[in-house]
Amino acid sequence: MLTYKLEIETGKELCAGTINTISVVLVGSGGESPKHTLDHWGRDFLPGARDVYEVRCEQDIGEILVLRLYKEPFRHFPKDDWFCNSITVTCPNGETAEFPLFLWVSDYGTFEIQQGKGVILTESVSPIIKKQRAAELELKRQTHEWKIYAEGAPRCISADNVKDLPPNDRFSFLKTISFGFDYLTSSIGPKLKGYLQCSDSWADINDIKRVFCCQWTEISDLVSELWKEDSFFGYQYLNGLNPLMIQKCLRIPDNFPVDDLTVSATLGESTTLQAELQNGNIFLADYKILEGIPTNVINGERQYLAAPMCLLWKSKNNYIVPIAIQLNQTPGEENPIFVPTDPEWDWTLAKIWVRNSEFQVHEVVFHLLHTHLCAEVFNIATTRHLPMGHPVYKLIHPHLRYTLEINTLARQTLIGPNGLFDQAVVTGNGGVPVLLARAVESLTYSALCLPDDIQARGVESIPNYFYREDGMRIWRAMESFASDIIHYYYPSDETVSEDPELQAWVAEIFQEGFLSNKNSGIPSSFATRVELIKYLTMVMFTCSAQHAAVNSGQFDFFSWMPNGPSTMRKPPPTTKGTTTYQSILETLPAINTTATAMVAVSLLSKEPLDQRPLGKYKNVNFVEDAPKKCIEQFKEKLSEISKDIKVRNKTKRLTYHYLDPEEIECSISI
Ligand SMILES: *[C@@H]1O[C@H](CO)[C@@H](O)[C@H](O)[C@H]1NC(C)=O
Ligand SMILES: *[C@@H]1O[C@H](CO)[C@@H](O)[C@H](O)[C@H]1NC(C)=O
Ligand SMILES: [Fe+2]
Repeated sequence: MLTYKLEIETGKELCAGTINTISVVLVGSGGESPKHTLDHWGRDFLPGARDVYEVRCEQDIGEILVLRLYKEPFRHFPKDDWFCNSITVTCPNGETAEFPLFLWVSDYGTFEIQQGKGVILTESVSPIIKKQRAAELELKRQTHEWKIYAEGAPRCISADNVKDLPPNDRFSFLKTISFGFDYLTSSIGPKLKGYLQCSDSWADINDIKRVFCCQWTEISDLVSELWKEDSFFGYQYLNGLNPLMIQKCLRIPDNFPVDDLTVSATLGESTTLQAELQNGNIFLADYKILEGIPTNVINGERQYLAAPMCLLWKSKNNYIVPIAIQLNQTPGEENPIFVPTDPEWDWTLAKIWVRNSEFQVHEVVFHLLHTHLCAEVFNIATTRHLPMGHPVYKLIHPHLRYTLEINTLARQTLIGPNGLFDQAVVTGNGGVPVLLARAVESLTYSALCLPDDIQARGVESIPNYFYREDGMRIWRAMESFASDIIHYYYPSDETVSEDPELQAWVAEIFQEGFLSNKNSGIPSSFATRVELIKYLTMVMFTCSAQHAAVNSGQFDFFSWMPNGPSTMRKPPPTTKGTTTYQSILETLPAINTTATAMVAVSLLSKEPLDQRPLGKYKNVNFVEDAPKKCIEQFKEKLSEISKDIKVRNKTKRLTYHYLDPEEIECSISI
């Protein structure tokens, strides 16, 4: 008789334990053990427990390749979900096989898991493992199906309600509770309740501060002080909520007829527009994508959207400042070019219009599409094509947590019919899907890869661009982490191009996520390890750092409504000299529209409980020493970056801390 020792760790999550009957069969290279029921007389699988069992075999069954788990009813007790962290088998000869799981096991039935060493499918892989992987994927493809969310938008998970999601994609119990609680406390504060019922204009801009009177952050306070300053307006293109819109301008666009005369008062006498263009000091933010997007009706009134162009200048003291704004794409008498030397309220309103455009482009394109919807596609394709034994699954699995749930919730309550967008945002009620489809059409691979994006926008050398500086350090750290892992598992480029699971994965992302758009430059297959490493870096960066950059500051930058109005109640001005403080108040969102948008940005800024910062993986899916060492090296690099950001933070009044790895959530979960 030979004895195999089994150690099983149940998750610490509330309700992670099970009273269902769990049995195992060990499947080795030389045979199988008998089915063995894991039973300590009623004390098995409590939350946080490590249970030890012994499985006896008549003969040596060789190297343990697969574990077959059975979950069956125990007497008349109801079915309950079990969160299994990991299982370790110690063979009679002292060798161990680890089975990291970190998954909910819900349904009754039999399923097999592969021992934890990362394996890519090649001819030499045991038929036992091949069979296990095929069965695992077949099961997952049934629970994770695609559906069309909107014509021209990436496909999403086929679930209308979070309750329809597979158990492993639902929030943990803790998160569900804290999410609901935050929602209630932030929206039903007694003061706020009054604001939500009043559709009047604000009588005084400073009254806005009374909503959420106790929630203002240091940065949102500063925003409310600085919002009218040109240097702050420009600063936000680098280190605000949307650091992705500014690009170098080498030639003034034909439909934005700015000339020396227009900007000479701002540039001063010592230079000319032509000289500044040549020196690379002129930048452009062009909101062409918003032209003609259908607009919402709020409180019975038609809302308005512009499609501005904003010319920016890197001034002698290295500030980025706006020098000309045109609110629509077609030049003409009724589409004046506003400049800083115009009357105060004319110039202020022009900037407010640009900030309203920023709100739309930021939320729908850079936040929703570039991070949330992309991450959802990565999640679904990974589940459908990469078995848990695949090294790429192990690498990116921590970055996929809770994304299906938050996106399904967003489709239900945020961008769905009667959601917060319909109630308070100009692109609500029909505009979002149109804008999304346009943005998908023009989405490129380089826009998703930070180093390429920086180059494509020509912003490599703008000083004090902290998003770029911090982001590039994180990108490089991730790239070298991915490179170490990939070189460990893939001995050659051929092993990449011949990995059927990996190729099916990237092909499906291209097809379902990017709608097979060849012009995007997004890969649909991999020929080399270098290509794979870049792609994996993009996936990890998108799901963590990039999302943090465009998500965490929402309350900071948008809670002071004039800095990010969700909608506008009057059309853009067609002449100069008519705008007054009063007319601006009549143009900005009404009191309850403001309050509704503030509830939304407050809700979306804060990670509820149960956070998992970048690199602090609790669920390490790798069992070999080499990849575990790579994780340690990655963590060390991140903590260095974090230290440097904290030092810089101390020297600034307006801080940029969104890309501090300690503050970056590992996956998109809010
Ligand atoms: C704003 O107030 C009006 C009037 O009370 C109400 O009809 C409308 O539903 C409110 N809108 C929101 C978004 O709360
Ligand atoms: C940065 O400094 C601000 C105060 O100036 C502080 O509230 C914040 O926690 C700091 N963040 C980091 C990451 O150090
Ligand atoms: Fe988000």
